[in-house]
Amino acid sequence: MALKGDAVREKILELLQEKTDGYISGEEVSQLFSISRAAVSKHVAVLRGQGHEIEAVTRKGYRLLRKAELLTEEIVRQGLNTKIFGKRGVHYLPTVGSTNIEAMQLAFTDAPEGTLVVADEQTGGRGRQGRTWHSPAGCGLYVSVILRPDIAPNEAPIITLLTNVAAAEAVHEITGILPVCKWPNDVLINGCKVAGNLTEIFLSGDVVGHVVSGVGINVRPLPKKLVPDLRTAPCSLEEAAEKSISRVELLQAYLVRYEYWYLLVKEQGFAPLLTRWKELTDVVGKKLSVQVRGEKIQGTVTDVSTDGMLLLLGEGGVEHRLFSGDIL
Ligand code: BTN
Repeated sequence: MALKGDAVREKILELLQEKTDGYISGEEVSQLFSISRAAVSKHVAVLRGQGHEIEAVTRKGYRLLRKAELLTEEIVRQGLNTKIFGKRGVHYLPTVGSTNIEAMQLAFTDAPEGTLVVADEQTGGRGRQGRTWHSPAGCGLYVSVILRPDIAPNEAPIITLLTNVAAAEAVHEITGILPVCKWPNDVLINGCKVAGNLTEIFLSGDVVGHVVSGVGINVRPLPKKLVPDLRTAPCSLEEAAEKSISRVELLQAYLVRYEYWYLLVKEQGFAPLLTRWKELTDVVGKKLSVQVRGEKIQGTVTDVSTDGMLLLLGEGGVEHRLFSGDIL
């Protein structure tokens, strides 16, 4: 009996995994499953799309360079050292439009704080200011967390900074490289963006109902064709660290750091988090321009306010309190 698409691919993957000493030819695969060589090459293309790295060499065949790492609930929870984040539901989706949208929908159905939505691929990954967050299969970590914080709407920038700090600390732990936090949400290594976050809040009347905090971390290089679109040239952790990075370990480190800061903010308020963010950023004291809703504001960064806004001293001693914007 002929096997269906998914079953054939599973078998091809098994064969490639067993063949640790070299290549398996397209001819061999085609005979084993009674399919054409063209069908073999289509199955390999699908497997690559799922994040498996498969090399193809003329006259030799195929070789598995690296199997995609799945981010299922079972795998993510193994050895995860948190109490809340990742312990109250991990919704793993091989592919999704946007993990933030999925998490927002779950939050409306009363999903508890700490629930995660994780995907291998996003087909409509969203960045700040309506930008696209390119999210090809297996290239990055795409995760959204549901929060139910007791904060006022104007304190929402704190969540952006918290996510920024947690991402930077996770990157540091996993790569050994200390990155820089760029206000409000970028994590940079050598001036190159490796991570960003998108915090979305739902207001119920004039109080915060729930928050979805989504982070995208580039783990492997993005396909070249996607790079020119991006505002800030991105780079990946594997390029920066020159080693292979486990997305599972990165996610676990992120959740541990996230929970640490989230609980500390609950206990002690925003001050320790702001101190930490200021240690990780290099903007304080710098003269710069910030684009805010089409307007360019210039000044010297003096501090972040107690509720997470960037304080800029402009011409004539005017103080600007920036909720959001893009440093140019
Ligand atoms: C930015 O730097 O502009 C923010 C990027 C945020 C991307 C993440 S990936 C997971 C989550 N889902 C989304 O659609 N966006 C965020």
